[in-house]
Amino acid sequence: MDHPVIAALRADRDAHVQALEDWLRIPSVSTEPAHADDVRRAGQFALDALSGAGFDAAMHDTAGHPVVTASWCDAPGKPTLLVYGHYDVQPPDPIDLWRHGPFEPTIEGEVIVARGATDDKGQALALVRGIATYLATNGSLPINVKFLLEGEEEIGSPNLEPFIREHLDALAADVVLVSDCSQYGPEQPALTVSLKGLCYMQVTVTGPSKDLHSGSFGGAVENPGHVLCKLLSSLKDDDGRVTIPGFYDDVVDLTDAERAAIAELPFDADAYRESVGVPALHGETGFSTLERTGARPTLDVNGLLCGWTGEGAKTVLPSKAMGKFSMRLVANQDPDRIARLVTEHLESICPPTCTIVVEDLHGGKPVKVPTDSPFVAAAKRALAKGFGVEPVDIREGGSIPIVATFKEVLGIDTILMGLGQNDDNAHSPNEKFNLNDYHRGMETVVHLLDELAE
Ligand code: BES
Ligand code: ZN
Repeated sequence: MDHPVIAALRADRDAHVQALEDWLRIPSVSTEPAHADDVRRAGQFALDALSGAGFDAAMHDTAGHPVVTASWCDAPGKPTLLVYGHYDVQPPDPIDLWRHGPFEPTIEGEVIVARGATDDKGQALALVRGIATYLATNGSLPINVKFLLEGEEEIGSPNLEPFIREHLDALAADVVLVSDCSQYGPEQPALTVSLKGLCYMQVTVTGPSKDLHSGSFGGAVENPGHVLCKLLSSLKDDDGRVTIPGFYDDVVDLTDAERAAIAELPFDADAYRESVGVPALHGETGFSTLERTGARPTLDVNGLLCGWTGEGAKTVLPSKAMGKFSMRLVANQDPDRIARLVTEHLESICPPTCTIVVEDLHGGKPVKVPTDSPFVAAAKRALAKGFGVEPVDIREGGSIPIVATFKEVLGIDTILMGLGQNDDNAHSPNEKFNLNDYHRGMETVVHLLDELAE
């Protein structure tokens, strides 16, 4: 191996895996207050890894979970890369579907299984250890590198934008690198060229002032459960289009060339259908599955709460019904405007028999990465070297709201270099990360530093 850093990485593979296991053992669930200390410990792990590697690193308290920053800026005249990642994880529920404890990382063949394995500890640690090994082996880096690691991504990064605004100089860079998404498939690396935005809403429909006997009152008093179901199902028509007036106003349609590029990606709809276990696929008429998931706005119910859901039967006419639903947005839809449109629409169609309260829980803007930049070109060369296969451009349906903030507040674009796989079970039981992807990710980031220095 002619690249000494790659050789050093390969010589140290067991230590890379052990470090990941140690990080994955920390149950850093950001949404649960009981795990606040664990989130901090996971941040401390990142801090120790970076300061131990020779970075000038610090942990910063915020109104929520801490932020970890680090920098090595001894390459004057060279570009500065800001590496972003997150060390918080989703709750592991439902626990009984895991093959073993979610925070007892277990290697099963080529993959490591644990909550956070792919989202995002495995991917983030690949970047950290790849760059740390570069510095340790070479004594210097070919470009300037800064890190920004947070513990609140899975709850919408509520404290990160204020933090960025307060640390503009310390975070100034030429481009951001994020590995918190996927490759196109096994052995097929990809550069993600768009992420969706998000508008997450909660709606509560109230009928009678208390739960009623459904025999005595049913038929005379409208049932808020029915009303909620009707309201929610009316938000999409039979063509899978969202019916909220104005919803599509700001959507930038795909160009013919973009549609042709998507159509060129190899895609087996039947294998996809089988992998998600549905009898038939579904979606907006006139668009392919990849267009629906990557490039068209969507609306999904995320949760429903109403009446009796315990064992057996209870003949009740419930007082309230609550639903959570969210819309994934594409450029140039604005989550605040969409939340306003949804609220006005639902208020206007709620029947006079009930009252309705619509709340905007959180949102994030969509992201489109300009693909003609020298940074993207460097990332593609690095992916080709790291994986031995030319990368393809993909559009992902997930959201990383802080990426839009990087553009708005720091004025810089982001390289979205996914190291995971779509079927890594992010947010699901038995989340996993392929150790080959972990090791190739480390090697790819080494190539990326070299390419960015050119
Ligand atoms: N890693 C994901 C984002 C992602 C998922 C990117 C799939 C590309 C493909 C991230 O951790 C995540 O889950 N984000 C949330 C954002 C929300 C909490 C604001 C999401 O997409 O639901
Ligand atoms: Zn993530």
